[in-house]
Amino acid sequence: MASQGITVLGSTGSIGESTLDVLARHPDRYHVVGLSAHSNMTRLAEQCLRHNARYAVISDKAKANELKSALDQLKCKSEILAGREALGAVASMDETDAVMAAIVGAAGLEPTLQAVQAGKRLLLANKESMVIAGELFRKAASEHSANIIPVDSEHNALFQVLPENFENGLENIGVERLILTASGGPFLNRERSSLLNITPDQACNHPNWDMGRKISVDSATLMNKGLEVIEARWLFNARPDQIDVIVHPQSIVHSMVSYLDGSVLAQLGMPDMRTPIAYALAWPERVEAGVKRLNLTEIHKLEFYPPDLESFPGLALAFQVLEAGDNAPVIFNAANEVAVEAFLQERIGFLQIPSIVSAALDVCETGKIDGLDEILEYDRLAREATGRLIHKNKGT
Ligand SMILES: NC(=O)c1ccc[n+]([C@@H]2O[C@H](COP(=O)([O-])OP(=O)(O)OC[C@H]3O[C@@H](n4cnc5c(N)ncnc54)[C@H](OP(=O)(O)O)[C@@H]3O)[C@@H](O)[C@H]2O)c1
Repeated sequence: MASQGITVLGSTGSIGESTLDVLARHPDRYHVVGLSAHSNMTRLAEQCLRHNARYAVISDKAKANELKSALDQLKCKSEILAGREALGAVASMDETDAVMAAIVGAAGLEPTLQAVQAGKRLLLANKESMVIAGELFRKAASEHSANIIPVDSEHNALFQVLPENFENGLENIGVERLILTASGGPFLNRERSSLLNITPDQACNHPNWDMGRKISVDSATLMNKGLEVIEARWLFNARPDQIDVIVHPQSIVHSMVSYLDGSVLAQLGMPDMRTPIAYALAWPERVEAGVKRLNLTEIHKLEFYPPDLESFPGLALAFQVLEAGDNAPVIFNAANEVAVEAFLQERIGFLQIPSIVSAALDVCETGKIDGLDEILEYDRLAREATGRLIHKNKGT
């Protein structure tokens, strides 16, 4: 089997690092084409040297010189590509067979979509892209015969237990429901009133998963599960009423599919992102991922509860957004990104995140989406509106 060329967009992040860990275990099977970072030049240079990357990509052009110094210091010969267009260019070049989309937020949309338009196998971690442009991704994947393999552990689990022809409509293959599991985050079972003075560090202290700060806050608010509900709608051609969320604090059952004969198929494993990453890389085969094996006799119990929509209204909001359709998911995602950033900078409180997102959905104009330009414009408008709401809400 010829070695496959892999480009990792967002290689300096949590998913990026885990991806490189899996790749390094299979040097005969994979080689690294491009690695990209946004701010962490030192780490990018180290990764390029260690993984012998052909291209070191920096999304911010102004930082190209800094990256050059970091590479020179290590005597690393990776070629520098700089600027936002460079991300799409490396993702779609001939040498790249598969792209790990691991940039956080809507910033990952354009290069991720370009990878699909170039017919690459897309390993999708960057859920925000699918949330805001699901229809475009579906169309591009079908037109360019690109495979999209979900990396999010829940969607990866669903992908593993669904039959291959899920594209034709879940009801046609006997599926009744997709059941996404949620750990419940660090504040599971907490009263809403006790969440008033939560700090960014408390919100980022996830009990089961070690992740980037944005997704950690999303997990604490359950906005992450809301984004995942919308992601599942597009990845699996599911109707909103076919998607359920269930809280499972141990994060061992990564998701389930319930069939009309009463069968429920689940995928289980330790909470380690290297399992879904390895599955996405090797699909339809499997490769070793360096993950601790699951021993249920050590875990003892697996619990399941309904989600608390009162303390965590973001999840209910996501279902409303899904029903509303059109540009609502774009507003939802953009407002959440801006609100999370404001929370991480301690400009707003934890409980203000969902209320600001809800207010943004109220004030932003609704509209249809015909293509990428509209998405980018609605995203921009929603960010501006959310910024104004945060300014107005200061101190409330
Ligand atoms: N972490 C997980 O376990 C997990 C699980 C499921 C899904 N996901 C999804 O995977 C994606 C990545 O999550 P993460 O936890 O790995 O995030 P992370 O640790 O914050 O890493 C984000 C990566 O994106 C780069 N980046 C940030 N802003 C950028 C911009 N404006 N333009 C280009 N690149 C930018 C960062 O570069 P610098 O570091 O150089 O700034 C870094 O490489 C998210 O969409 C998340 O929802 C993550």
